[in-house]
Amino acid sequence: MRKGILTIAAVGLLTTGGLTACGDDSGDKAASAKTPKIGVILPDSKSSARWETADRRFLEEAFKAAGVKYDIQNAQNDKTAFQTIADQMITGGVTALMIVNLDSGTGKAVLDKAKSQGVATIDYDRLTLGGSAQYYVSFDNETVGKLQGEGLSKCLTEKGAKNPVVAYLNGSPTDNNATLFKAGYDSVLKPKFDAKEYVKGPEDAVPAWDNAQAATIFEQQLTKANGKIDGVLAANDGLGNAAISILKKNKLNGKVPVTGQDASTEGLQNILAGDQCMTVYKAVREEAKAASDLAIALAKGEKKDTGQTVKDGDRDVPSVLLTPKAITKESVKDVIADGYVTKEEVCTAAYTKFCAEAGIS
Ligand code: GAL
Repeated sequence: MRKGILTIAAVGLLTTGGLTACGDDSGDKAASAKTPKIGVILPDSKSSARWETADRRFLEEAFKAAGVKYDIQNAQNDKTAFQTIADQMITGGVTALMIVNLDSGTGKAVLDKAKSQGVATIDYDRLTLGGSAQYYVSFDNETVGKLQGEGLSKCLTEKGAKNPVVAYLNGSPTDNNATLFKAGYDSVLKPKFDAKEYVKGPEDAVPAWDNAQAATIFEQQLTKANGKIDGVLAANDGLGNAAISILKKNKLNGKVPVTGQDASTEGLQNILAGDQCMTVYKAVREEAKAASDLAIALAKGEKKDTGQTVKDGDRDVPSVLLTPKAITKESVKDVIADGYVTKEEVCTAAYTKFCAEAGIS
């Protein structure tokens, strides 16, 4: 499994000093005078199980291993709460603040306030457009989308689909990652639409990645398409499961390939049962480790050279972008082997048979 490589990549990119991809030192001076304390604001607990089952777990693991003080809170998709938590963390003496923004506007306001108080800042997983974060730590999110597009295409070929109608359930319009995921899967699927190999079906963005809304949206898509949807590009496992619930109502589950992302327990179970075509595994342990390494260095007033940047307008943001991995029935066992989920969590009674078929014993 790529874990070892990812770990080396994450640590290897973080070399002290260096002149290129270093965060500006505005938040560093004050930090070195104080005891390192890291604040983390997670976005919600409904758009994806990852934030509470993986990110919180692996961030705590990294901070405890480093012996630093930390405060991890979840804004529960409430923008006012997000800003209140940030104020409380800054008042509470954090020396570095990591955020997963709910949108770029409120994210920018929080980042700018932290910077004005000499608090170092990191965009975790989602880039705050027009923001001022000193670093951005995520995955190569356009590659996530490419893997989704390629995965759907492979499943459609395996089904022998002719001129398949492909529907899109895009992520939240306020999430820059959703824009990047779409750019990735469009790069694979748009040429097929243009060549009239595939037919572009209904496309909708799902506000705040809300899974309940996604089910309603997909039901409307299926009606609009007169029941003729042959493949669904769903931008994460929560949206994929919403589409699968509607396909089940119409006895189409397993016949219509559906994509996902996050390698959630639910997503892996749907894949094992044959209702979901694929997901994308993002080793959150590596993302959390890379971000906490940076946050700890910043909290101590050190600068790190990440070796790469991403463009945000005219700003070059020092970044760490980790490698995502496509997961199908045959590779579900790799996610378990990487310690992201346990066999017991995935292979519950209803899935024992499917696990055995997939070589998970
Ligand atoms: C994205 C994140 C994904 C996805 C989504 C839902 O920003 O990168 O893992 O699940 O949020 O929260």
